[in-house]
Amino acid sequence: MAERRNVVALTGAGISVESGIPAFRGAQGLWGKYDPLEYATLHAFVQSPRKVWEMLSEMVSVCGAAAPNAAHKGMAALERRGVVRAVITQNVDGLHQAAGSRRVIEYHGNMETLVCISCWKRYPTRERWTPGTVPLCDCAEILKPDVVLFGEPIPWLAQEQAEEEARTCGVLLVIGTSAQVSPACDIPRIAKESGAAVVEINPEPTSLTASVTDIHLQGSASEVLGWLVGLLRDPANGHP
Ligand code: OAD
Repeated sequence: MAERRNVVALTGAGISVESGIPAFRGAQGLWGKYDPLEYATLHAFVQSPRKVWEMLSEMVSVCGAAAPNAAHKGMAALERRGVVRAVITQNVDGLHQAAGSRRVIEYHGNMETLVCISCWKRYPTRERWTPGTVPLCDCAEILKPDVVLFGEPIPWLAQEQAEEEARTCGVLLVIGTSAQVSPACDIPRIAKESGAAVVEINPEPTSLTASVTDIHLQGSASEVLGWLVGLLRDPANGHP
């Protein structure tokens, strides 16, 4: 990383766990509480938007109350130092930007905006949504957060930019993602096939670890990134 400097990161829910936002999979995961087929597909939203808003309300409240943790701040510090050039995130919580990262590619959208899937008008979430309510468009339709539900395409600009970053980076850091959701899980393979080193930061092995990953730094995102930031500042201090 110190030599190549053109580092790009792909982040997932695991980087925000230490900010109090549960991940999707695993024992405490959101998909253990809400079946994604019933609560997280475009079809489900079109059929029963009020039901899907039960899950979305929880996400908006939890994300709204969360603050960046040491891992988000570490990523922003590495960008300021010219080591990291972009973060591709699957998260919709806005915590990379809140920590000071400037080039953030939001692969699955964000919670800041609501969109009407009937007339395509957009609104800031805080203007239209209050806890316990369902946000409505001026045309009276129920609004959807500007996040990618299953069955929706990735925003085209984010997809283009993410693939370009993957093809041209020297190191891809893959942080806190189980890499089970397509097409985000293709990004590490694209980077690898284009000659990048893939470094995974995760307490657990994932589907990438044995096949794609060059180096697995096993631990929490804040712990490992704290160590990496220190190491890049002072290479003599080389042990986690
Ligand atoms: P997952 O919940 O699938 O995976 C979270 C990963 O974070 C796991 O591999 C954990 O081992 C790891 N993890 C947990 N705590 C961690 C910590 N403190 N530090 C580092 N890693 C930690 O979440 P994602 O892979 O982000 O998409 O899920 C991808 C997509 O699936 C989401 O964007 C969402 C979901 O369905 C849509 O809704 C379209």
